[in-house]
Amino acid sequence: MLGRIPEEDVARVRDATDIVPLISESVVLKKKGRLFWGLCPFHGEKTPSFKVDPATQLWHCFGCGEGGDVFGFTMKREHLEFPDAVRLLADRGRIEIREEGSSLPRGRRERLMEACDAAADYFHQVLTRSKDADAVDARRYLSERGFGSDVARRFTLGYAPGRGALVKHLTAAGFSAEEIVEANLALPPFESGTGGASRLKDRFFERVMFPIRDLNGRVIAFGGRVVGQGEPKYLNSTETPIFQKAAHLYGIEKAKGAIVASGTAVVVEGYTDVIALHEAGVVNVVATLGTALTTRHIRLLGRFAHKIVYLFDGDEAGLRAADRASEFVDASATPEAGTSRVELFVAVIPGALDPADFVGAHGASAMNDLIGDAEPLLRFAIERRLSANDLSTPGGRSKALAEAAAVVAPVKGSIIAHDYANYLADRLLVDFETARAAIEKSRPGPVRRDEEPGTDRESGAQREVPEVLDQRSRAERSLVGLVAADPTLRQGARSLLQGDLFTDPVARTLLTAVVNAGSATDDALFREVSKVDQQAATVLTGLLVDAPSAEDVHSVARQTLAKVKELALERQIKEKRARQKALEAAGDADAADTLFKEIATLQSEHARLRQGIVPSEAEVWDQ
Ligand code: UTP
Ligand code: MN
Repeated sequence: MLGRIPEEDVARVRDATDIVPLISESVVLKKKGRLFWGLCPFHGEKTPSFKVDPATQLWHCFGCGEGGDVFGFTMKREHLEFPDAVRLLADRGRIEIREEGSSLPRGRRERLMEACDAAADYFHQVLTRSKDADAVDARRYLSERGFGSDVARRFTLGYAPGRGALVKHLTAAGFSAEEIVEANLALPPFESGTGGASRLKDRFFERVMFPIRDLNGRVIAFGGRVVGQGEPKYLNSTETPIFQKAAHLYGIEKAKGAIVASGTAVVVEGYTDVIALHEAGVVNVVATLGTALTTRHIRLLGRFAHKIVYLFDGDEAGLRAADRASEFVDASATPEAGTSRVELFVAVIPGALDPADFVGAHGASAMNDLIGDAEPLLRFAIERRLSANDLSTPGGRSKALAEAAAVVAPVKGSIIAHDYANYLADRLLVDFETARAAIEKSRPGPVRRDEEPGTDRESGAQREVPEVLDQRSRAERSLVGLVAADPTLRQGARSLLQGDLFTDPVARTLLTAVVNAGSATDDALFREVSKVDQQAATVLTGLLVDAPSAEDVHSVARQTLAKVKELALERQIKEKRARQKALEAAGDADAADTLFKEIATLQSEHARLRQGIVPSEAEVWDQ
C-alpha cells in the first residue's frame, strides 16, 4: 500500500467534493425541501429512504441504517478502504495529494517496480533468446504445455537461469543491492558486513517465470515454476512493499476489461490456468497467488463485477479448497438481494481436471457453460456438508443440520439467513423453526463485528436490517440529534449524562461524544464521533440529516427532553410499583409506605410534564 495521506490533504479532497453530484453519479436523486432523496444503493428498496443533506454533506439511509460522508459513500460504493477512497476522490477532483511516511515514499516504490520490470524483461530475453541448454529445456517444456513463443510474449513468460545472472544484470542497470533485495529478486548474503551486490544470491533460479502485475500492468512480483518435476513446484515472491498476495491477483491487468464487460470475474488457482483460459478466449479470468480468495480480493473484484465465480479442480484438493472458500461467506460476499454488490459462486470442474486441462479437452464454450452454471457458494457449501452425512437416519440428519447451520450462521443479512433456514428445512425435512434455531445456536456471541477475529473492518460489514427501537431509545436518540445539530445546547446537555436518564447505549455514547466535541457541527462533528465510535457516527448521520431547522431546535429540544423524562419516569414508577407490591406481600408496611410516597412524587412530576411544563434542566436551553 501507499503511504499515509496527511489530514490536510484529506480535508482538501473533502472540500473539493460536493456530496450531491458525487452521489448523483450512481443514484438518481430528487430534491425534497432541504434534502435530496433517492433509492438506497446499498439495499434493495422500492420507495426512497436514502437521503442526502447538502448542508451537512452527509447521507443516511433510513431503510438500512447506513450513513456517512463522501468518503464513507465511496468506500461502500466502490468496496474500498479509506485511503483508497481518498485517492479515488482526489483523482476525481484532480487534487494533488501527498503520501507520507509509513511504508515507502512514492519514488522508492517506483524503483522497486522498475527493478521488477527490468527483471521480467531480462527473464523473457533469456527464455526467448538464450542458447544455453537449460533455457532451451524451458522453452521445450512450455511449448509441450501449449505455451509457444506467442504466449510467452503475451504473458512475458521468462526463464531465471540463476547463478547470479539477474543480480549482475540489475546491478549493471543501476539498481542498488537494497533495491534488489527489497523487491525480493535476490537474497542478502548470510554473513553480515560483507555486503555489496556481488554477494547477493538470485532469489529464483532454473525456473520458468510468471511476472505478476498490478491493475496498471506494472510488474510487482513473480511466480517461478520448476521445469518438469521438482519441489517446490512453484516459488512465489514473498511479500514486499509493492506486493501482497492477499491483495493482488494474477492476470488482473489483462482480465479487468472483460470482467467489467461480462459483469463476472472468474477466479482460478493456477498461473497456467489463467494463461490457458485466456488463450482459449475465456478472458475474464484471474488467479490467486497461492492463497485462498481473501476479502481484499473480493473487494477488488467487486469494483469490476457483481459476480465472482470461483472455479475449482474436481479433485479432492480442489473440493477441500472449495470448502474452505465458504469461510468467506459473510455479508460482504453473499447474495443477499440488493444489499451487496458481489455474489460468490462456485463451479467445480468435472472429471478431476484442472481448468487448463478442461478447456484444452472441451473448448471455450463448454468452459463458459460451466461458469454460467456456477452455484451460489453458500448453497454449494451447505450441500457439501449435507452430502458428507447420511440423511436417511435421524442422527445423520441432525449432524448435517448442525454442520450446515454453522455454514449459514456467520451470514449477517437476515433475508438470506431466512432463505437458507427454509432451504435447510426443506432439505432435511425439519420445520423452519428447527432450522432457524440451529442457525441461531451456531451464531457467535454478540461480538461487535469489527472486533471479531479474522474479519476485516472494511469488508463492507453490512449492518442488519435496522434495529427496531423502543419509544424511549428513539426519544433519547432524537434528543442527542438536537444537541448534535446545535452546539449551544451542549453545555446544558452535559448534565443529562449524569444519572440514568439515558438508557440506550448508542444514545449515551453519542451524547458523550457530542458534548465532548466542543462546538464542532455537521460533518466535522461526524468526523469527531467517527473517531470514537463508528456505529454511533452512523446513527448520527441519520439524526443530523433529520434535524429540524435551526430556529426550531430549541423548542423541539425542550419537548424532546420532556418526552425522555416522561418515559424515564414511567419506567421508574412501574419499577417502584412492583417493589411496593412485593413489600406489601412481605408484610413490610413501612417500607411500602415510603415507596408509595416516592411514587406519588414521581406521578405528580409526570403529570406536570404531560401538561407541558418543561423540566428544570431545559431551562439552560432557554436562551
Ligand atoms: P497447481 O499445482 O494446481 O498449479 O497449484 P498449476 O498452475 O496447475 O501448475 P501446473 O499446471 O502443474 O504447472 C495452483 C497454484 O498454487 C500455487 C501456485 O500459485 C499455483 O499456480 N502453488 C502451487 C504454490 O505456490 N506452490 C506450489 O508448490 C504449488
Ligand atoms: Mn495445473
